[in-house]
Amino acid sequence: MGDMHAVRNIVILTGAGISAESGLKTFRAEDGLWEEHRVEDVCTPQAFARDPDLVQRFYDMRRAAALAAEPNAAHEALATLDAEWPGELLIVTQNIDDLHERAGARRVLHMHGEVLSAWCTGCDMRHRWEGALLGDPPCPACGEASLRPDIVWFGEMPYEMDRIFAALAGADLFVSIGTSGAVYPAAGFVQEAATRGAATLELNLERSLGSRMFDETRLGPASELVPRWVAEVLA
Ligand code: APR
Repeated sequence: MGDMHAVRNIVILTGAGISAESGLKTFRAEDGLWEEHRVEDVCTPQAFARDPDLVQRFYDMRRAAALAAEPNAAHEALATLDAEWPGELLIVTQNIDDLHERAGARRVLHMHGEVLSAWCTGCDMRHRWEGALLGDPPCPACGEASLRPDIVWFGEMPYEMDRIFAALAGADLFVSIGTSGAVYPAAGFVQEAATRGAATLELNLERSLGSRMFDETRLGPASELVPRWVAEVLA
């Protein structure tokens, strides 16, 4: 990685790979979620309209898994960086688990939503939610049985895109961790950052679809690569 003294503003993109060593399935691995479930059945607004119970059951399963998981060394290292980095830092995660926050990170943005949040499509309120949504529990605010998982489904606009692009525009360094680069708009962030003059680094178990767009790629498990990289940055 180039001269860190010139780096003040960092944007970090994380994907399912950073939570894999915490026991949470990724999407596109051989035993991944998309091997067991069809996206069209569980991850679109049309699927929810067609069979809400199937969708609720899928996210109830993922909510229970997220609650049972623990942050790993990669989450902890990013929490340390968040606490000690004097410049701008934003962790943009595609993940719906709360392992970044449970490790202590604060400057985190969930662009695909959060599994521990329920969204009432009646009164538009969001609620911390740890239990099941199957069975249509009433909204704690309006009493309507209109709660859905607070997740960005395929065909829906990811959250806080303005804030993400503003951070990318000001970034000196863009780092991508544990993502396959298969899904836009996240897969396009490296190009956006590079066009704005940022240095770019990929930390991943295997080369992603966007590897050639990065200045540097390091291959290996996040629990090893991320603590090592954070130690370099804070040295
Ligand atoms: N350490 C580092 N990288 C890992 C590890 C690990 N222990 N385990 C897996 N990986 C890498 C894989 O090599 C792969 O490139 O993580 C990546 C996971 O890719 P995906 O399963 O495609 O997950 P992700 O990139 O987060 O998916 C993006 O797609 O399905 C949608 O909304 C969903 O947010 C998700 C988006």
